[in-house]
Amino acid sequence: MSPIIPPINLSSGFPAPSLFPLQQLNRATNTVFSKPAIWHEGMIYGPDEGHYPLRRNIARWLSQFYYPNETLGSKSRIDADRICITGGASQNLACLLQVFTDPVVTRSVFIVEPGYFLSFRVFEDAGFHGRLRGVPEDEEGIDLAFLEERLRKEDSHSKTERPYKPQRPYRKLYRNIIYCVPTFSNPSGKVMSLSRRTELIRLARKYDALVIADDVYDFVHWSTSPSSGDSSSSTPEFRHILPRLVDIDRTLDGGPIDEFGNCVSNGSFSKIVGPGCRVGWAEGTPAFAYGVSQVGSTHSGGAPSQLMSTFVNEMLEFDTSKHNDCALTTHILETLIPAYSRRYKKLTTAVKEHLCPHGTVPAFENKFNVGGGFFVWLKLPESLTSAEIVSAARQDGVIVGDGRVSALPEGNARCASYEDMIRLCFAWVNEEELVEGVTALAVTLARLLEHKSV
Ligand SMILES: Cc1ncc(COP(=O)(O)O)c(C=O)c1O
Repeated sequence: MSPIIPPINLSSGFPAPSLFPLQQLNRATNTVFSKPAIWHEGMIYGPDEGHYPLRRNIARWLSQFYYPNETLGSKSRIDADRICITGGASQNLACLLQVFTDPVVTRSVFIVEPGYFLSFRVFEDAGFHGRLRGVPEDEEGIDLAFLEERLRKEDSHSKTERPYKPQRPYRKLYRNIIYCVPTFSNPSGKVMSLSRRTELIRLARKYDALVIADDVYDFVHWSTSPSSGDSSSSTPEFRHILPRLVDIDRTLDGGPIDEFGNCVSNGSFSKIVGPGCRVGWAEGTPAFAYGVSQVGSTHSGGAPSQLMSTFVNEMLEFDTSKHNDCALTTHILETLIPAYSRRYKKLTTAVKEHLCPHGTVPAFENKFNVGGGFFVWLKLPESLTSAEIVSAARQDGVIVGDGRVSALPEGNARCASYEDMIRLCFAWVNEEELVEGVTALAVTLARLLEHKSV
């Protein structure tokens, strides 16, 4: 009997286990458990805002990444009071909705589509079923004219009603939520341009919206410009490609319009350490960061992932012996960026060679000459649907992501169903399997197209 060969999974959007920083984590846990002052704090209920050394180190580390060469005085530094430790971006999305929305006051959740499909249920769980509204994106990201028209419409129908939730000094109840992944979006891989970012913050202020930015893919990116040659061999830099929305809200037109501001950055260590960590952070104004920490479950149980926070903190401790600041930055620059850029190149080259001849093409050209995130978003030839491809590819030993899951459950902006799209992830499978998976997919495509033509 021939052995059963497991399928090549190009669908799951998970980081590669072979790239987990196991040695660094091993050192970190040893350090924590050899120092009673640290493990003691890690093993008891944490403060609501999270393990203070981690908040301080995240603030320092983000300042380096997002403000590398700037001299904006106090604005070029992120202080610990802007940071609240979370249990990762998904857990924190639920907490944000618990604290800052109300079923009566908050009218709609606007989601840039195609959307990160696993967020939909979080919004529904928070009571927004039937009030999720898709906002299309173009080459530069979110379509602001579309968004403003919808926001205006919502405003004109709205009456002032008594909130369902009690007034609390630590929060504000926003009238609208806008959810997006501005950098290397999931699934499209798009990057929102600076002008869209700026105008999005202006719109959010005008229509009392909280922008929730999942900034989970910001740290690992590489040049794709033809002049950069083999991007996996050039020396990467630890710096952002564009200011985050939360940075813009901090500085635009004199800064936030009230103490809570209009944007939160939802950060995570899932993609750069490992998803099992369940550690992330929220960054916003100090009042906002404190507000997140006052969600009932944290107020009762203390900060989420408290012990793991002490381990992650060791990876962020400033290391004078290293030119790269800390163990995590070294891991990102020396392991993750070279590996993911190589994988990206292999996958995109294989797509060009094997899928494009069958009419399956990348959905857009990245204007920024930069690659990042985990995904390639592909458009199928007109005669094929994602449902057909997904099922036939499975039989050929390849799992691919069905575009349809990225369509909002209801109220889709352009009635786009994404049934002509598939998503491939270059992060999860072994590197050698990327090309094998794409060539198998090409065989599937050719067979389906041939069937259609007879
Ligand atoms: C846009 C986006 N947000 C959030 C997450 C999940 O993050 P976390 O593991 O921190 O909950 C993912 C993971 O795929 C993602 O793509």
